Amino acid sequence: MRALGALALSVALTLSTSFAAAEDDFELAPILYSASTPDNPVSRLQARLDAGESTLAWDGAVGWLGSILAALEVPTSSQTLVFSKTSLQQTRISPRNPRALYFNDDVYVGYVRAGDVVEVSVADPTLGTVFYSMEQVPGARPRFERRTEDCLLCHGGSQTRGVPGHILRSVYPSPSGQPIFSAGSHRVDDSTPLADRWGGWYVTGRHGAQRHLGNITYADRPATAADADPSGLNVTDLGERFGTKGYLTGQSDLVALSVFAHQASAHNALTRASFDVRAALHREAALNRDLDQAPDYRWPSTNTVLDGAAKALVESFLFCDEAPLAGPIEGTTTFATDFAARGPTDAEGRSLRHFDLERRLFRHPCSFLVYSASFDALPAELRARFWTRIGEVLTAADPGPRYAHLSADDRRAIRAILVATKPDAVAHWGSAD
Ligand code: HEC
Repeated sequence: MRALGALALSVALTLSTSFAAAEDDFELAPILYSASTPDNPVSRLQARLDAGESTLAWDGAVGWLGSILAALEVPTSSQTLVFSKTSLQQTRISPRNPRALYFNDDVYVGYVRAGDVVEVSVADPTLGTVFYSMEQVPGARPRFERRTEDCLLCHGGSQTRGVPGHILRSVYPSPSGQPIFSAGSHRVDDSTPLADRWGGWYVTGRHGAQRHLGNITYADRPATAADADPSGLNVTDLGERFGTKGYLTGQSDLVALSVFAHQASAHNALTRASFDVRAALHREAALNRDLDQAPDYRWPSTNTVLDGAAKALVESFLFCDEAPLAGPIEGTTTFATDFAARGPTDAEGRSLRHFDLERRLFRHPCSFLVYSASFDALPAELRARFWTRIGEVLTAADPGPRYAHLSADDRRAIRAILVATKPDAVAHWGSAD
């Protein structure tokens, strides 16, 4: 069993429904998760640090944090704050000492004021999510240590679809930040209504009459939404809730939280699809060898896995399960404008990063992770089927009830943006119109 403190273990056991004592599938061929050498933005930064081509600067208030964010190009405006005792450094985390999380398209960074380590998770194009920590002690040679088992205890099981992945949950925290397990919890992804999100998190933003569970602590789960304490709603200043000295900002932007929720689950969907298909191709190659079949003999079961993975990925990337917003939401930082400005855009200036924030998160709901290295590293056959499937959905006269959330105009716009900005799409679709 993986070694961990008693408290962390009890949290992990309570939050996850199954506890994998047996070896995980991703530790076997072809993934060989822990045995393989990662190649991702964090491992490359470490290589530059080793070669003396980059340095990090220690700061008396936040240690290595600011310098790590700058070196990995993670914007400070992506900061979100979580105060439930649900993660690695939980003994230090509380409503008065929340954990800060930051992210860009590939990298996620976790920081606890007065914590022992800065925690990092990163989308590695072939290994799924890879974990690192850096000790928060000043010194000449700061190092990202790759971490496996002690992170996978929580980040490699039922909470992350059985792959090394990202976790996002909404709990009912007591005044100390301890989740009240008898009150239950909610997984947070695109499908989670705002009303069930952000328990145990700070949330800065405006959302009108819509509710969420953040910014407050609980004695128990409220019987109805109307019974909940409204003092956590439409909060734009957290100043009275905790001292912000030792943090980069005092904000936990509602739009940053919303993008984080989408991206974390889309990254897990990418890893799940990649691992499933690579395992199926690996099994097929072994079977063909054992049975003296031609090496490229295609088994129906492999086709089933390929089609299933492509379909699941298209549904995730086109936000098929997104819970609609009941009205406008806005954050309190430059996150939304910074994020939207990053493009790429088509000739009409449209981008997959443009927000709607009234009915749904994005104006053109197709995940910007199509531009990620993890997407490009998917097995070629899976990518081909992804483009075929999404192409059908975007051009069909009626793509069916799963896609009822996309109007004909939405589908035309998404296709035009992909044609203008993603050469891989055009290569598979064969023509630009
Ligand atoms: C006790 C369970 C637990 C362990 C062990 C754990 N985490 Fe997490 N982690 C969480 C939870 C839960 C979240 C979601 C945010 C929260 O509740 O704090 C999270 C979120 C994160 C995030 C934010 C993005 C993401 O990937 O979800 C990072 C980065 C992270 N953890 C890094 C690590 C690293 C590195 C390790 C190992 C050194 C680790 N964690 C070990 C529970 C855990």
